[in-house]
Amino acid sequence: MTTCASSVSKKRLLLGITGGVAAYKAAELARLLTQEGIEVRTVMTKSACHFVGPVTFQSLTGNPVYTDLWETNAVNNMAHINLSRHVDMILVAPASADFIARLAGGMADDLLATLCLARDCPLIIAPAMNRQMWENPATQRNLSLLQRDGVRIIGPASGEQACGEIGMGRMLEASELVEMVRTAFQTGGLLQGKKVLVTAGPTFEAIDAVRGITNKSSGKMGYAVARAAVDAGATVTLVSGPTCLVPPIVDKLIQVVSAEDMLHAVQAEISQIDIFISVAAVADYRVARVCQQKIKKSDKKLSIELIPNPDILMMVSSLPEPPFCVGFAAETEDLEKNAELKRRKKNLPLLVANLAQDAIGSDESELILLDGAGKHVLPKASKMEQARHLIKHINSLYQQ
Ligand code: C5P
Repeated sequence: MTTCASSVSKKRLLLGITGGVAAYKAAELARLLTQEGIEVRTVMTKSACHFVGPVTFQSLTGNPVYTDLWETNAVNNMAHINLSRHVDMILVAPASADFIARLAGGMADDLLATLCLARDCPLIIAPAMNRQMWENPATQRNLSLLQRDGVRIIGPASGEQACGEIGMGRMLEASELVEMVRTAFQTGGLLQGKKVLVTAGPTFEAIDAVRGITNKSSGKMGYAVARAAVDAGATVTLVSGPTCLVPPIVDKLIQVVSAEDMLHAVQAEISQIDIFISVAAVADYRVARVCQQKIKKSDKKLSIELIPNPDILMMVSSLPEPPFCVGFAAETEDLEKNAELKRRKKNLPLLVANLAQDAIGSDESELILLDGAGKHVLPKASKMEQARHLIKHINSLYQQ
C-alpha cells in the first residue's frame, strides 16, 4: 500500500497499553505512529507500568501519559470522557487476556477500560498472550463478543513466545500495526453497513472413502480479502473450503468440503448479500460415482468418470438481482486475454487475474484488476496489502 502520511497526519489516536511482555513493542509503536504525524495520547494500565515506564511514552510522543482513573488535574475530573472524546481511534496494544475479558464484560474498573467503554470512535485491539491463554475457550468467547460489538481484533501472530513456547499469541510487530492503523484511517468504514460474502480455498471432491481430487489453493488470498472487508466495516460471511490456515474472525464462517457444499452454502446466504467476492478455487469437475468404501488396489487400469461441477459464481451473477460480483482467475498462460474472456462470459463488473504459478500458495502476488474501464495492475505485494487495495477498488466501483 502506498504510504500516504498526509492522510493520517493530524489524526488523534489513543494508545492503550496493558500488562504483558509485548508492552516493550508499544514503545516502537508509539515512535512510528508519532513519526506518521499522528498525535498519540498514551494510557497505561497498572500492570503495563510493571513492564515499561510512562516516561518512555511521554518522551516518544511528546504528550502526557495517563495511568490513573482518579487523575486530579484532569478538567472536571473527567479524564475518561475527555480523553476518548478527543481521539479518532483507540488502539490497545498489547491487549492482554485479562483486559480482553474486562472489555468483553463492559467493565470500567480502570482508566483504559473506562475510556474504551465511554468511546465514540473505532476501537482496535492487538492481543498478546501465552498460546494457552489465547486458545482458552474463555478468551475465544470474549474475542467473539468483542467482534460482535464492532471491536477490530488484529493479530496475534504465531511464533516463539517470551515464555519459550511456540504458538499463537505474539503481538504483531510495530510496523505491521502502524500499517493497520494507516489503513483503518484510510479505508475504515468504506464498506460500513454492507454485507459481503467471500468464498475461499480449494474444494475437495471425493473419489472414495479416503481419496479425493483437490488443488493447490492455500486459501491465503480469500482469507486476506475477508479480513480486509472486515477491516473496512463490512459484515462478512466467509465460505471456506478445506485449508490449513487459522480463519480470520468474520461474522459468519461456513466451512465446506466440496463444490456442491459450497454452492449450497452460497445459495443459502446470497439473498442477504451486497457484494460477492468469489476467490475460491472451485474444482471444475467431480467424480460421477463416489465409492463409499476404499477402492481396492489391483493390477488393472482404473478410470474415474468426472462430471462438471456447477459454476457458483455464474449462478450468482445470473440471478435476476445479483449482488456486485467479483471473480478471480488464476491462469498459467495468456493471463489477461483468458481472464477478460472469463469476465465477459460470467458477466462480472470486476475480475481479478493472477498467474497461477506465482500466486498459488505464496504470501505475495501481482494482481491485474479487469473492469469495464480497462486494467489496473497491482504490482507484487503481500496478499493482505493486495486485498486492501482490492476492497478500495470494489468500493469505488460499487459506489458508481
Ligand atoms: O475456474 P474459473 O477460472 O472459471 O474461476 C473463475 C471464477 O469463477 C473464480 O472467481 C471462481 O471462484 C469461480 N468459480 C465458481 N465455481 C466454479 C468454478 C469457478 O464459482 N465451479
